[in-house]
Amino acid sequence: MKVVIPAAGLGRRFLPATKSMPKEMLPVVDRPVIHYVVQEAVDAGASDIVIITGRGKRAVEDYFDHNPDLGPIGEAPELEELERLTDRVSIFFVRQRQPRGLADAVYCARHHVGAEPFGVLLGDTINVCDPPLLRQLHQRFVELGGASSVIAVETVPTEKVADYGIVAGPEVAPGVFQVEQMVEKPRPEEAPSRLGITGAYFLTPTIFDAIAKTAPDRRGEVQLTSALDHLRQKEKLYAVTFSGKRYDIGDRKIWLRTNLEFALRDPQLRPAVLDLLKGVGH
Ligand code: G1P
Repeated sequence: MKVVIPAAGLGRRFLPATKSMPKEMLPVVDRPVIHYVVQEAVDAGASDIVIITGRGKRAVEDYFDHNPDLGPIGEAPELEELERLTDRVSIFFVRQRQPRGLADAVYCARHHVGAEPFGVLLGDTINVCDPPLLRQLHQRFVELGGASSVIAVETVPTEKVADYGIVAGPEVAPGVFQVEQMVEKPRPEEAPSRLGITGAYFLTPTIFDAIAKTAPDRRGEVQLTSALDHLRQKEKLYAVTFSGKRYDIGDRKIWLRTNLEFALRDPQLRPAVLDLLKGVGH
């Protein structure tokens, strides 16, 4: 399976930290977000990962490369897990030359992806799912006939619909919606539902034609939601719910919460974190 990870976004929600550092390199406990995303793709069966980068994202490339200053592997046991991860997959980088939106970033991978269906995971979002989210989406893709794109959705609170791509359509099987309407970041009163796109996709290669035909929005960005809206007029498109939890690290509060949750899950850190929390605010 090929997986595209767009990691070219500017990280505006996390300024000033992301002024000169990619948001994908924000640490969650002791590893950057992009590490978890690549791990998730590999766990789902990715053999090939294309990370879409841009200006100021070199740290993402360096992260998956050897650092000779740290000496031979083995002298830094903390790096062993990362080594094992990078040994299991081929990682390619393509630079998006201008920040022209999520669909444009996915389009940058078209030559590499070729004519096969492929996964997309956002470089700033961790999904803790069992089975891994992309595997769940692939499973649905197969069940639904193997010719229609499948996107992950979850119900979002009304006050949050303006932060999401929103889809609507009939529920054709439990947790499976055939998409008939979709709109990027609508005002709550205009939203056709509260089903928000969470940022994990399993797409047919027809999406590339749809992206090419999609006009940029007023900010000059080509939205993946708009391209999918074109796609669904040619092929069926399904939105599916999933089991598991999503952490959008580009949001400061969620980043803080994720650090706490992940640290509490680590048996070595848990007692110290609980102690710390008792003292916080006093
Ligand atoms: C992107 C997509 C949006 C989706 C969201 C999930 O928006 O455009 O449809 O709901 O990811 O996080 P962004 O968060 O990059 O603005």
